Amino acid sequence: MQALHPWTLLLISAVTLGQIQEQKNQECSKLNTQMPEFQKKTVHIKDPKRVEEIICGLIKGGAVKLQVITDFDMTLSRFSNNGKRCPTCHNIIDNCKLITEECRQKLYQLKETYYPIEIDPNLTIEEKYPYMVEWYTKSHTLLVEQRLQKDKFAEIVRESDVILKEGYEIFFDKLNEHNIPVFIFSAGIGDILEEVVRQSSVYHSNVKVVSNFMDFDDNGVLKGFKGELIHVYNKHDGALKSTEYFNQLKDNSNIILLGDSLGDLTMADGVANVENILKVGYLNDKVDELLEKYMDNYDIVLVKDETLDVVNSILQKIM
Ligand code: TMP
Ligand code: MG
Repeated sequence: MQALHPWTLLLISAVTLGQIQEQKNQECSKLNTQMPEFQKKTVHIKDPKRVEEIICGLIKGGAVKLQVITDFDMTLSRFSNNGKRCPTCHNIIDNCKLITEECRQKLYQLKETYYPIEIDPNLTIEEKYPYMVEWYTKSHTLLVEQRLQKDKFAEIVRESDVILKEGYEIFFDKLNEHNIPVFIFSAGIGDILEEVVRQSSVYHSNVKVVSNFMDFDDNGVLKGFKGELIHVYNKHDGALKSTEYFNQLKDNSNIILLGDSLGDLTMADGVANVENILKVGYLNDKVDELLEKYMDNYDIVLVKDETLDVVNSILQKIM
């Protein structure tokens, strides 16, 4: 076969790029009709035009410019399944056979006291903040007292009711296939979270987890937690603390942020170069009281939605 002249190659590339751009422009102009997932009853959007503009920006940037920053509990994992509440990373331990009945009761009591504060529509984040510190401090102290063994975690995760959102395989596999960095930023327990993701067979090399990681002694017995505490309402400085990670992603200026708490909205604060950011929020509890606030702050609100359908449909358009 005769080799093509470099100018010919350049011309072909330019035409192809032009065609791709044209195709992307066309895709942008009729997003609504092309994405049936947006017609689902669970989808609530305050400003559809703005959302369309952001998604267009994401589509035009393509996979190379994209990164995902996501919460874990009740965002990637399900809030409920067949009408039954699903556990957070902490709840996997609360419910497991490794802890004493007395400790379990204390952890349940803490949840009954502090979870209503976490989601209270009438309190500001500043008002909730000290209570969250109190909850985590008390809860983590109880766990350390139980001298939990790290080598039992795989078993307790396997025996738990934790389940990732429907469509998680496509979500993780597609992001990995296209080398899109995924930053899981969780106020849960990192060791449990990693085990859940590993057992779901989606802990690919593009996934980075920042969370509360346990510290074990030489015998693998829990003796404390590493680093500074991450709770639901101090996620704003996460990006600043993970500077090395985000410095490597300076060109990934398009972000899809996924969360379920109003505290998750700040997860991308401190990311230096942001061109387009799409904030998708799952609203699972106290829907009537919180919907307006969520719609004011998240671009897309997914009410009692146990799937990743909407996000997957956006990813499909971008790639
Ligand atoms: P997330 O940042 O991945 O959503 O994880 C934090 C969740 O963990 C948050 O909703 C509160 C919850 N949590 C418990 O369920 N039990 C506990 O003991 C603590 C301290 C937090
Ligand atoms: Mg959460």
